[in-house]
Amino acid sequence: MPKYIHVSVAWPYANGDLHVGHLAGAYLPADIFARFHRLKGNHVLMVSGSDSHGTPISVEADKRGVSPRDIFEHYHERFLLTQKKIGISYDLFTHTDTENHHQIAQDFFRILFERGYLYKERQKLLYSPAEKRFLPDRYVEGTCYICGYERARGDQCDNCGNLMDATQLINPHNSANPEDLLEVREAEHFFLDLAAFSEQILAYLAEHQDHWRPNVTRFSQNFVKDGLRGRPITRDINWGIRVPLEGWEDKRLYVWFEAVMGYFTASVEWAKLIGEPDAWKRWWYNPDAEIYCFIGKDNIPFHTIIWQAELLGVNGIYNEGDDTPLQLPYDVPANEFMNIEGKQFSKGRNWAIWLPDILERYQPDAVRYYTAITFPETQDSDFSWEGFLARVNNELVAAWGNLVNRMLGFAYKRFDGRVPEYDELTDADRAMIERVEGGFETVGALLEKVKLRDALQEAMALVREANAYLDRREPWKTIKHNPTDAARSVYTILRVIDNLKTLLAPFLPFSSQKVHEYLGYDGQIFGDLVIREVEEETRAHNVLFYDGSNAIGRWEASQLPAGQALRQPAPLYTKLDPEIVKQERQYLGQPREEGAITLDEN
Ligand code: MF3
Ligand code: ZN
Repeated sequence: MPKYIHVSVAWPYANGDLHVGHLAGAYLPADIFARFHRLKGNHVLMVSGSDSHGTPISVEADKRGVSPRDIFEHYHERFLLTQKKIGISYDLFTHTDTENHHQIAQDFFRILFERGYLYKERQKLLYSPAEKRFLPDRYVEGTCYICGYERARGDQCDNCGNLMDATQLINPHNSANPEDLLEVREAEHFFLDLAAFSEQILAYLAEHQDHWRPNVTRFSQNFVKDGLRGRPITRDINWGIRVPLEGWEDKRLYVWFEAVMGYFTASVEWAKLIGEPDAWKRWWYNPDAEIYCFIGKDNIPFHTIIWQAELLGVNGIYNEGDDTPLQLPYDVPANEFMNIEGKQFSKGRNWAIWLPDILERYQPDAVRYYTAITFPETQDSDFSWEGFLARVNNELVAAWGNLVNRMLGFAYKRFDGRVPEYDELTDADRAMIERVEGGFETVGALLEKVKLRDALQEAMALVREANAYLDRREPWKTIKHNPTDAARSVYTILRVIDNLKTLLAPFLPFSSQKVHEYLGYDGQIFGDLVIREVEEETRAHNVLFYDGSNAIGRWEASQLPAGQALRQPAPLYTKLDPEIVKQERQYLGQPREEGAITLDEN
């Protein structure tokens, strides 16, 4: 029975380009996981979009003297191109400034309000005398009252990860202007009554602790044990979603309150788009569906507690007359951080590796390979250019690429452009085939548990075994005196390559497709990722959309037919020049100019 798998992917703030931290933290793991489940024949719905609201957007807009809308529209378009280029196969990548998202977010608010889960309270807030306004938490900086870190933000401390109450920060000041010392003043706001959900959330965490990553469970349980306090969900700003109540025209919904709803609203938008407006219920109102949230560790509490509270609070939404409960996330496989050459990512200092830039210089599968083999799944990891060079040249190119090039080239030349016919395989041949076929179990089991780096390592171990097999069988020698034996071993290795291509396909979709074609198959392993326009009543927006209708890939052993006509192969990967290490390091920490993003159609 096919399963229903929802892949909820963190929504990037559309205030700057995507970088390898985004890729390693959430987008690539989500994509690998989604592609694997599609190959398994499961029903996958993978959604995300640009987080268009919140102070990260307005801070950037202020800096450049443009409107928040200008900023988010600019980066949204770049996100579409970048992610198409590196193959993040969203069923829908939209944004939070759609009519659909605004309306549903306001419905969430109304339902929570009517059911008594929202309350009004006068709140102490930090007021900036210099700017004569309440300062959003993100603009506030001070010393963390938990760990003592001196540059904690008003919303969160990047050192200890705890969410902050900005008014409790020590020496709070305007982060843009340290002389602007902030005063505590009062304003009225809406609060989400998290405490009302304590028991349900504790039970939920207990129910899932066996299969969650230990750090995610630990962080979340501590968060609840510390006592769930109400959280303000409106702000004194004018960029964002309106509070759907009279008298609240000057305030907006807090960005985090509405952004997490995007997993739900984008599912609804996708259903409308495919012309089956109720299709989203197959995941959200299906007790057997599994929802996975792919996020970075700084987003844990929003995805293990706050989002759950919102879902519990609106249970039954849009599902009148049916008491199936709205689904909560089944797993939240948060990744740790990926540093760059040993230092923490910093946008301000341009200590970053920007995806649009490196995708102009390297193959998408090379970037995907290195990122996946260094995924920060259990601890922080490091993107180093030495590492990139070594992993790509020694593993991707030398082990996998050369195996494919050598043997497909050999078969193409020496066996008349066909998969060799053979009389019977030797025990060693059969053992090799079975070993790799076993990968559908072993690699699959790891992928299912979201141990993606281990899964890739397991697949690469099989690649190495295939190379060792070839070194023993040496068809390029036996072909001279024992062509029958050469035919057997070449058949065997082509069949092994055919299986390896599938095992690697979630990680390396572009090159697996090429191998698929060189082996003589027609059709596509995966569907097409397209950028298309969605029209709503008052405005239109572009989205990334995965059309899987023509996908034929299956997570199962190949039966490569002898005699099948091959296609002339070309090298899969470009070997990297060691010079790149020096060149690439020079970009780090230097001012950067945003270049155009080119798509090569193939
Ligand atoms: N925009 C946030 C960030 O980049 C993540 C939002 S995830 C969502 O940190 F669930 F809220 F969408
Ligand atoms: Zn701290």
